[in-house]
Amino acid sequence: MKVNAISEHFAAEVSGIDLREPVDGATRAELNRLWGRYAVLVFRDQPLTPPQYGQAVQIFGELMQQNSTKYTLPDHPLIGFNSTNDLPRKADGSLRVRGENYHTDHSNWPAPPKATSLVAVQLPSSGGDTQFVDVRAAYDDLSDELKARIARLRSRHVHESSRSPRMMAKLSAEQQAKSMLQPLVIRHPESGRLALYLNTARMEGIEALAPDEGFDLINALYDHATQAKYEYRHSWRLGDMVIWDNRSVMHQANADYDPAEQRFMYRAMLKGTPLVAAFS
Ligand code: SIN
Repeated sequence: MKVNAISEHFAAEVSGIDLREPVDGATRAELNRLWGRYAVLVFRDQPLTPPQYGQAVQIFGELMQQNSTKYTLPDHPLIGFNSTNDLPRKADGSLRVRGENYHTDHSNWPAPPKATSLVAVQLPSSGGDTQFVDVRAAYDDLSDELKARIARLRSRHVHESSRSPRMMAKLSAEQQAKSMLQPLVIRHPESGRLALYLNTARMEGIEALAPDEGFDLINALYDHATQAKYEYRHSWRLGDMVIWDNRSVMHQANADYDPAEQRFMYRAMLKGTPLVAAFS
């Protein structure tokens, strides 16, 4: 197995492994160590069937149900998919893709998924990259004064914030009612590293701050965390499997490809635990 770091802060490409085959205990432990260190792992040339994908992604944890069963494979209910065919078009004909601004998945759940993963099954001739930013490095770079100000703040995450920059998918009433107060600064349960926990599509201000003050703070932290210096942009190749840690990075999709072309990705999420506040 060979590991090549991709960017300064995070993300690594792992080669010399065939994820269609089960891995032994030592390989599993090493892959989990790498995932903890890099937060985004890229495996090229993995033409996985859905059961092989399920097996591969469970190296890192336990599969969980997607929030919309509409987008799951009929014979493999824990494997979801993102398909161009299901995407609504905007008035100008361009695509409205799922996840089109930086976010961390299901942040309005009591225990958000610890990981999300995609496998490229069909790709457009250009575009459709996925971008990631390292919210651990972004936290580390804040001034001591700002760190002290945000240390114990919390935000209520809802299905769709009243100031969301994008329209969220319509789900069942039960799913849409999910709402959770989450710390603004979290501590990773394994590495202990601190990270910003942001999702402008779901954050309904900051508890204990006036609405405008809360949203201004969220937007300032979001602008800081989404700078190019914290980014890794993944240009997909067929057969890529990527898995990322939702407590260490935010991700966003891109709608910049020809709507007549097909982008089809398998998608899986791994069960998480309630977030840990960095400071009590
Ligand atoms: C997502 O936000 O989960 C989708 C990312 C992508 O399709 O690139």
